[in-house]
Amino acid sequence: MGQAHSAGPVEGPAAPRYSSLRRHAWISLPLSDTTTEAANGRFLEDKVALVTGASRGIGRAVALELASRGARVACVASLVENAVDTARLCSERTEGARPYGVDVADTALVDQLVREVRKEMGGLDVLVNNAGITRDQLILRMTEDDFDRVIAVNLKGTWNFIKAAARTLMKSSGRIVNIASVVGITGNAGQANYAASKAGVLGLTRSVAKELAGRNVCVNAVAPGFIDTDMTAAIDDTTRAEIVRSIPLERIGAPQEIATATAFLAGPAGAYITGQTLVVDGGLSL
Ligand SMILES: NC(=O)c1ccc[n+]([C@@H]2O[C@H](COP(=O)([O-])OP(=O)(O)OC[C@H]3O[C@@H](n4cnc5c(N)ncnc54)[C@H](OP(=O)(O)O)[C@@H]3O)[C@@H](O)[C@H]2O)c1
Repeated sequence: MGQAHSAGPVEGPAAPRYSSLRRHAWISLPLSDTTTEAANGRFLEDKVALVTGASRGIGRAVALELASRGARVACVASLVENAVDTARLCSERTEGARPYGVDVADTALVDQLVREVRKEMGGLDVLVNNAGITRDQLILRMTEDDFDRVIAVNLKGTWNFIKAAARTLMKSSGRIVNIASVVGITGNAGQANYAASKAGVLGLTRSVAKELAGRNVCVNAVAPGFIDTDMTAAIDDTTRAEIVRSIPLERIGAPQEIATATAFLAGPAGAYITGQTLVVDGGLSL
């Protein structure tokens, strides 16, 4: 790595810039019109969304869901080649998706990437901060590097994108959805670094929500419980069965269930919700 990468649009012509009227559609339309947009399912038509960690797991499901709702999606992974397939699938739903690559922990490169997205995609309306890592270890064995890297990717990465995109989102009355974790609320043995990073994301969410509310930018968090992705794939069957027993709904969640909650907050239904944490965990944190 060393610079932010864009691989250009996956297919379709360059999308036109939309008018300032359209940009404010979800706050300025009467309820009946927003309801019509919601009813046809494409309530993010003419919006540009940026999703980090879009190569797989939850981020991929979120990118595809937003594209299904009509958004042109900037799909960001750590390497541009990792995001190409998601961008291709997004473009099958709404033309004009593009893959990008950046280390979300790198402030200067994230700033450069957000500028590129704005220029190449004609604006930015929805930012989903989803990229995340774990480096689980009991506190006595956790190294400084384990702590610093998890904070750098999960918390500072989220701050980096908000900082780089805030001005644009203020102009578009945009949305920010940060993917946190129930562990940021409950804590978890072996995840002091990860829980601290996700608790930080929740505080960041509430603070930025207060700062940007005056510009009609809604900022919320989704806190998933145990979701079936690469991140949880290494957990052995015995532990997995124990976790399932501790979930009131008695099953592991699917990435799509986080994607649906994220699209809800990013769409017209989320217009009067800000600073909140939507817990999607099958009751795990109860
Ligand atoms: N799975 C769960 O049970 C669960 C529960 C609660 C919260 N979450 C949160 O949900 C989010 C997604 O989790 P997941 O389970 O879908 O994880 P995953 O399958 O491991 O995917 C992680 C994603 O983050 C990207 N990423 C990691 N480090 C990055 C970096 N430094 N710069 C740019 N991109 C980076 C990866 O890109 P590459 O492919 O390029 O590496 C990948 O797209 C995370 O924030 C996670 O903490 C997950």
